[in-house]
Amino acid sequence: MTKPDKSRSEHLSAEFADMFLQPATAHSQQVREVFNSIPTAVAALCAVVDGEPRGIVATSLAVGVSYDPPMVSFSAQTSSTTWPYLRRAGRIGLSILSDEQIDECRQIASKAGSRFADLETMPTERGGLLVKRAAAWLECSISAVVAAGDHEVVLLQVEGVDMRPGSEPLIHHRAGFRNLAAMADV
Ligand SMILES: Cc1cc2nc3c(=O)[nH]c(=O)nc-3n(C[C@H](O)[C@H](O)[C@H](O)COP(=O)(O)O)c2cc1C
Repeated sequence: MTKPDKSRSEHLSAEFADMFLQPATAHSQQVREVFNSIPTAVAALCAVVDGEPRGIVATSLAVGVSYDPPMVSFSAQTSSTTWPYLRRAGRIGLSILSDEQIDECRQIASKAGSRFADLETMPTERGGLLVKRAAAWLECSISAVVAAGDHEVVLLQVEGVDMRPGSEPLIHHRAGFRNLAAMADV
């Protein structure tokens, strides 16, 4: 992270926020650093489409988008070759990966190699695919897709939920992985 200079560290006393805000330009390192400084869960979004398992990992997940009906969202890169398959799925299985699943995360996100070789999954009746040993599971249907720059925001209606007692979610933070057990209460 860029070391804050004196004027930035004193930004709270600045008369206008413009004095310390950096311009948020496309693909800027500053934007990337700020986005990456915000911890997120790691979701695997998987489904069986035309008989083939398909899936991606996403850290753009937002939960609690709505409680009535229950809705979550994530953003899919417009360049993704997997998202067009998932979009056609009857249901998407959304697994919140646990802190024991860094390998599974890397495998499902990989560009090369089989994303599902030796990966333990559970199909749902309507075509969703859930990853075993995850911390929580949501079976979702696609409610809306909204264009958002180089991504599409996907609103998902949650049709079914469960969680694995005693497990903790994997946390993505500053381009690395963390677990909640290593963090202190405040
Ligand atoms: C930690 C991490 C977070 C990611 N988050 C997202 C995301 O929010 N949205 C997305 O579309 N892809 C995300 N990806 C990329 C996908 O998981 C996957 O690598 C990519 O979609 C593969 O290309 P394909 O869609 O062409 O198969 C992420 C990858 C990693 C490793």
